[in-house]
Amino acid sequence: MGELLLSAEELLISFPSDAGRTAAVDGISFSIGREVLALVGESGSGKSMTGRALMGLLPRGAEMRAKRLVFDGQDLRAISASGWNALRGTGMGLILQDPRYSLNPAHRVGRQVEEALLLHTRLSSAERRERALDMLDKVGLPDPKRVYASYPAALSGGMGQRVMIAAMLINRPKLLIADEPTSALDRDLQDQILTLLRSLTEEFGMGLLLISHDLQQVARYADRVLVMRRGRIEEEMAATDLSQARSPYTRALWAARPSAATYGTRLPVYGGEP
Ligand SMILES: Nc1ncnc2c1ncn2[C@@H]1O[C@H](COP(=O)(O)OP(=O)(O)O)[C@@H](O)[C@H]1O
Ligand SMILES: [Mg+2]
Repeated sequence: MGELLLSAEELLISFPSDAGRTAAVDGISFSIGREVLALVGESGSGKSMTGRALMGLLPRGAEMRAKRLVFDGQDLRAISASGWNALRGTGMGLILQDPRYSLNPAHRVGRQVEEALLLHTRLSSAERRERALDMLDKVGLPDPKRVYASYPAALSGGMGQRVMIAAMLINRPKLLIADEPTSALDRDLQDQILTLLRSLTEEFGMGLLLISHDLQQVARYADRVLVMRRGRIEEEMAATDLSQARSPYTRALWAARPSAATYGTRLPVYGGEP
């Protein structure tokens, strides 16, 4: 897994509830190196909260504790609001399911791809444009100049996701978190985007935390897999061993091949409702 980028020990995320507080993430420990680490599990198992905690983006009401939470030498438990902004603009990036909610419809693509350079570097506008055009090309968009000058409404879902990847990678972060990055796309596009993320992770020497509910897909793109269930890590294994998983829960997830049509609905899993 190479050099360690992030390490989490006993990460606990809770929300207020009738019972006082309920743990959405219940004391999990893991680390991420320069690799593709997949986080899988049924809906509601705590995947997104884990990813968001690493970026300081937990929803209101959430409380986070950890025995240790270190990214690139920085203690994430003790970072200020401005520290988080700097970290998000330079060290880490987040890609969500649907680019339509991440891209601002009022601004041209170029401006949004360049934003991290504007905020966190002293490059001139010509240099920023050049870097943005390079990045749009790298993520496989034909005619980067045209895309640069377009508004997000002119992009298809697959193109929008490529633009988001360009925006997140423009400052060469060390860690990219992709939360169900292809769930809104059709199967061919899913494979294209995951192939792209996989190859950019290797090219840039990054770590990629790939959050997904599709185990068969993850098996093809990840190095290692953490299987989450009800806020805990049920199993941890090499991606190539997923098809031979021991846990009945993992086996049930493996057998339940989700599709865009079933996304967001509860998959039939071992043990039934929490
Ligand atoms: N805003 C919130 N308020 C209260 N509880 C929440 C909130 N967001 C998430 N949760 C709880 O956290 C659990 C894990 O959520 P999440 O990490 O989004 O699951 P996943 O991404 O695996 O589907 C949910 O089952 C839910 O109980
Ligand atoms: Mg989620």
